[in-house]
Amino acid sequence: MTPRKPWGGRFRQATEPSVERFTASIDFDRALAAHDIRASIAHARMLGRTGIIPADDAEALVQGLVAIREEIERGEFPFDPALEDIHMNVEGRLHALVGAVAGRLHTGRSRNDQVATDLALYLRDAARASQRGTIELRRVLIVRSREHLDTVLPGYTHLQRAQPVRLAHHWLAFVEMLARDGQRFAALRGRLAHSPLGSGALAGSTLPLDRADTAAALGFESPAANSLDAVSSRDGALEFLSAVAICMVNLSRLAEELVLWSSSEFGFVELADAYATGSSLMPQKKNPDVPELVRGKTGRTIGNLVGLLTVVKGLPLAYNRDLQEDKEPVFDSARTLRDALEVMAGALATLRVNSDRMRRAAEDPMLLATDLAEVLVREGVPFREAHEAVGRVVGHCVEKDLDLRSLSREDLRAFHPSFPGAAAALLDLERSLEQRALLGGTARQTVADAAEAAEAAVQRETEQLDAEEPGR
Ligand code: ARG
Repeated sequence: MTPRKPWGGRFRQATEPSVERFTASIDFDRALAAHDIRASIAHARMLGRTGIIPADDAEALVQGLVAIREEIERGEFPFDPALEDIHMNVEGRLHALVGAVAGRLHTGRSRNDQVATDLALYLRDAARASQRGTIELRRVLIVRSREHLDTVLPGYTHLQRAQPVRLAHHWLAFVEMLARDGQRFAALRGRLAHSPLGSGALAGSTLPLDRADTAAALGFESPAANSLDAVSSRDGALEFLSAVAICMVNLSRLAEELVLWSSSEFGFVELADAYATGSSLMPQKKNPDVPELVRGKTGRTIGNLVGLLTVVKGLPLAYNRDLQEDKEPVFDSARTLRDALEVMAGALATLRVNSDRMRRAAEDPMLLATDLAEVLVREGVPFREAHEAVGRVVGHCVEKDLDLRSLSREDLRAFHPSFPGAAAALLDLERSLEQRALLGGTARQTVADAAEAAEAAVQRETEQLDAEEPGR
């Protein structure tokens, strides 16, 4: 026997079981339980404080809600699919615990402003957790970068060896990306500053609700200014999904490099056994499934963003039930990012780096061809002319299978009269790195300074997060 629906007054027929299944969201929106109860407690207290309901009743509601929160935390809450969603499940349970007074909780409130409020609270927490996750991964990358200031590998463009870089410099590039990802989550929290509660179904309430009171109790800066907007906008969720998708795309590029670099062809790194898996058929295999799945799961987070954008794009104001489709992508993206950040941090912390292999690849003298052109520029030759001359030198070496560094001063002068010395004297891997001492470059001190600045930023952001009131 299905319980009577809280909205059942005007209905003469029971809901079809297939419709009940189709419309229910309790299987996933139970993830909002803690936020729903928190918002209900704030609402009940406000109803009592304003005298909209008797103070004793408000106190009974709060006691009941606290008891429900504990039941949920203990895993003992009897979730009932017939009660559709988390809001009606909590209210239904409240009836069982405190009796008829439970009927006062929904005074001046609709599930529309309720769910928008719950979601904002959830997004604030998820954005904070995501930001923390990006910070933890930055921390690991900075530690590994500092270990590898002197590890040199080819930097690539078009996946062709281009110019030598320090491994520290390479990984600090991802630290920069992750710092921006973290900023996106912080900025999103700043924009989730207005409480939908008190917006009712769409047009507010005839009752003298104190919206500023509930907003403050829930850690919002102020009540949302427009009731229609407050119940029907989901751009906070879209922004979260977008920030997650961008962060996952960045992680996916890092993951792709781990996959490439751990191949025999590169042989630059080896994943720790704890972060790799084997083949059920081929005993010799050690597979990079962890970074592969980070790369693969990036797809679903992009799908989650595109999915919700598509849900919202055609909706007239204000609330439409389509908006219930906001939750699964948000929950899924939050979980996917959290797990991806965690396994990437572990995989990188335990990664074995084959510095010799990297250096051998970086010692290819062709990687210094640009430096040779810049030697000519320093002799006063226009860059285009220098590029052309060195291009002919390189072509000559390729054709005759010569090491670029074997060319004498005379050999070089056959291509341009301004070459000031033999190639071996002009070209040196270490010097090439050290000469790039400008900001953002590869010189050892420059990279060490960059690691230090990155570390300071991580420290600062951690302190800011820690200092925030827990409710915000
Ligand atoms: N489960 C619903 C959702 O997530 C709650 C709001 C339902 N409101 C309504 N008028 N049916 O959107």
